[in-house]
Amino acid sequence: MKISFIGGGVMGEAMIRGLLTKGLSTPQDIIANDISASRRETLRTTYNIGVSEDYGTAIKGSDVIVLAIKPQNLAELMPQLEGRFTRDQLVLSVIAGAAIATITGGLGHRSVVRAMPNTPAQIGEGVSVWTASSEVSQGQKGMARSILGALGKEIYVPDEKYIDMATAVSGSGPAYIFLVIEALVDAAVGIGLSREMAEELVLETVLGTARLAQETGKHPKELRDMVTSPGGTTAEGLLKLEEGGLRALLARAVIAAYERAKELGG
Ligand SMILES: NC(=O)c1ccc[n+]([C@@H]2O[C@H](COP(=O)([O-])OP(=O)(O)OC[C@H]3O[C@@H](n4cnc5c(N)ncnc54)[C@H](OP(=O)(O)O)[C@@H]3O)[C@@H](O)[C@H]2O)c1
Repeated sequence: MKISFIGGGVMGEAMIRGLLTKGLSTPQDIIANDISASRRETLRTTYNIGVSEDYGTAIKGSDVIVLAIKPQNLAELMPQLEGRFTRDQLVLSVIAGAAIATITGGLGHRSVVRAMPNTPAQIGEGVSVWTASSEVSQGQKGMARSILGALGKEIYVPDEKYIDMATAVSGSGPAYIFLVIEALVDAAVGIGLSREMAEELVLETVLGTARLAQETGKHPKELRDMVTSPGGTTAEGLLKLEEGGLRALLARAVIAAYERAKELGG
């Protein structure tokens, strides 16, 4: 499978790295176009892939063209790509908030996959939610699946509305968790732990907790009850979190992010 990248920044590079390290592509199969000459040079020397400053050369002969530029650059890019695709090529966009209709309309090309990855993709631990326009073939869906699989887990959804929902949960989610991590570390330092130890304790706790929930498949409430002994320390801590409205606050955060995702996409 030959893959072109338009935009070789953080996400483009994560995908290139994932494809190469998982052995899904060879450097000869990949060509990257980035507006920045220094980015192109970095990608060429780091991964030994082809690079091009010209869109035509980058796209020609590729099975999949990945769009990995920032949302604000899309309107300017699309007229430059319009009409350059052949019917059998697949466009795979990871651009947040860019609706499939915007991309198919702007590019004059109907086979489009839209995906929402998240930042842990940079270490192959991401989760991407994706959907496809009705013109995308089964074979092309398979290619999209394996490209996104190079970033971690991938989940296909049959309707684009779920992409906006996923944006508010898994897309923005790492930022919510980073804020929780930061706050817990500061609180741990506040009661007297060194910052170094606080960071290690918090990160291991977050990682281990997620893995425990995943591996046991138990409901979080059941797992929580197991560490909450009557009259104990955890019960005290949980009471403060409930008093502070943690659940309602998280719900409001997710709803606000979802509304914003719909606004940006619409
Ligand atoms: N980073 C993430 O974890 C993440 C997660 C989910 C979704 N995404 C989506 O992935 C997309 C890329 O994000 P990113 O973090 O990788 O951004 P980024 O690091 O800024 O990468 C974008 C790259 O594209 C280049 N570029 C800009 N305009 C271009 C054009 N017309 N033609 C070719 N190259 C162009 C940029 O160059 P300049 O810097 O010189 O402009 C930059 O090197 C975004 O749409 C974002 O919504 C990212």
